[in-house]
Amino acid sequence: MSDDRIRIFDTTLRDGEQAPGCSMNLQEKITLARQIEKLGVDIIEAGFAIASDGDYESVKAIAEALEHTTVASLARTGQADIERAGQALEKARHPRIHTFIATSDIHLEHKLKMGREQVMEEVDRAVRHALQYTDDVEFSAEDATRSDWDYLVQVFTVAVKAGARTLNVPDTVGYTTPVEYYELIHYLRQHVPGSEDLIFSLHCHNDLGLAVANSLAAIQAGARQVECTVNGIGERAGNTAMEEVVMALKTRPDAFEGLDTRIKTTEIYPTSRLLSSIIGIPVQPNKAIVGDNAFAHEAGIHQDGVLKAAITYEIMTPQSIGRASNELVLGKHSGRHAFRDRLLEMGYELADEDFQRAFKRFKDLADKKKSIYNEDLESIVADSVTVEQGRFELGNLVIQSGTFATPNATVELSVDGEPRKATAQGDGPVDAVFKAIVELTDTKAELLQYQVKAITGGMDAQGEVTVTITEGGRRVIGHGAHTDIIVASARAYVSAINRLDGHKERREVDGPRGI
Ligand code: KIV
Ligand code: ZN
Repeated sequence: MSDDRIRIFDTTLRDGEQAPGCSMNLQEKITLARQIEKLGVDIIEAGFAIASDGDYESVKAIAEALEHTTVASLARTGQADIERAGQALEKARHPRIHTFIATSDIHLEHKLKMGREQVMEEVDRAVRHALQYTDDVEFSAEDATRSDWDYLVQVFTVAVKAGARTLNVPDTVGYTTPVEYYELIHYLRQHVPGSEDLIFSLHCHNDLGLAVANSLAAIQAGARQVECTVNGIGERAGNTAMEEVVMALKTRPDAFEGLDTRIKTTEIYPTSRLLSSIIGIPVQPNKAIVGDNAFAHEAGIHQDGVLKAAITYEIMTPQSIGRASNELVLGKHSGRHAFRDRLLEMGYELADEDFQRAFKRFKDLADKKKSIYNEDLESIVADSVTVEQGRFELGNLVIQSGTFATPNATVELSVDGEPRKATAQGDGPVDAVFKAIVELTDTKAELLQYQVKAITGGMDAQGEVTVTITEGGRRVIGHGAHTDIIVASARAYVSAINRLDGHKERREVDGPRGI
């Protein structure tokens, strides 16, 4: 199919979420999925239903929560995978099963230990099976860019005869180049029978920093579905960054024959910020479109030009991606109504329980801080939707520290609903607080990283703390924000421990995670 609409297939919650440090809990996934729906993507890949009970539950919950967007679950070609995906999607308004198997000789020989014929039989059976659950079936030929082109044509032909309507051509290991990928897509469109009625899809990884360039080349060759993630998160060097492809099409209609997406671009920045706050991974400052410096003109000559006429150095506006300036938004007298309106304007529609929590945080903050900026609200939202439903809940804490005193902390924590208290000493106040928390939670986790940054400027700015801890090979991130960085640190640490605790239940299957 070569109409002029590019479908955006967002895989932040599947390929993105499987990257180290990017895992999210159920509540966070639902919040993000709602925002991604608001952004206007066509398809959300909500997870890999068979990978774990947690993945199954999140695909199911997102399938129930979303109204307009197609919800997809990944599935290998095995019967159990397809069944699990079909069950998880049962309540979806628009369900899609996305089934895949590798097609490169490298994968056939070393991973699958299957012959080419056998793989084709798998594809045929899997697509037919998936059609029993939905008429929207996508087939992916994993490692397509290192597969034999004629064999790829044969495999896709089998998939199409079995009933698949979307054919995905993944550059699984980020190996291809723009010209090569263009030629591959072009070749497939010429040789797969009935290609005029099919959607060819691209899926790129960024190992050589070429994911977006390769994706745009595939679009020029006729691909009409882009698989991508918010902020480009994903395995290793990440996936195609959704915001970069969308804005490239928007900004250069001349170069892309007027092809466009349905993305509401003013939702790009709020979505990017929401994801960053949930996973606790900030985007690099010079990241295209959503990085802190993406619209900052530092050189005098540029500033002079922009002031005279923005067009001199500005190819798109910050407003077009929903980036409001650091304006003052609310103050201590703002009520519930104004708070909700402002959040809605920023693109956040919170469930009632999250909203109540967020409003309380806002009021507490407004008591301590005169000016509340958009960034403060973003951090409040992230903090409120990421409250762990875990065993540990932080209560009060008191510290003593300084040049004359040995740092000492007393921390109250509710453990499985029981109030408990511990006092500990440390090298500094944060160390003392963490030691008290370790005693109360009995955690064996090792602290890998501790980061603190000011969310906005000003003496009364909130501090945002991110901690990374690890235990038994699993790495999780927790974050917390507060005007007092010791409290922010305690929140971040407890959130990480809760998260780790939640993950202990999670069962992994071999292979597919890590694609
Ligand atoms: O990178 C890849 O090949 C994948 C497929 C499962 C689509 O993520
Ligand atoms: Zn992938």
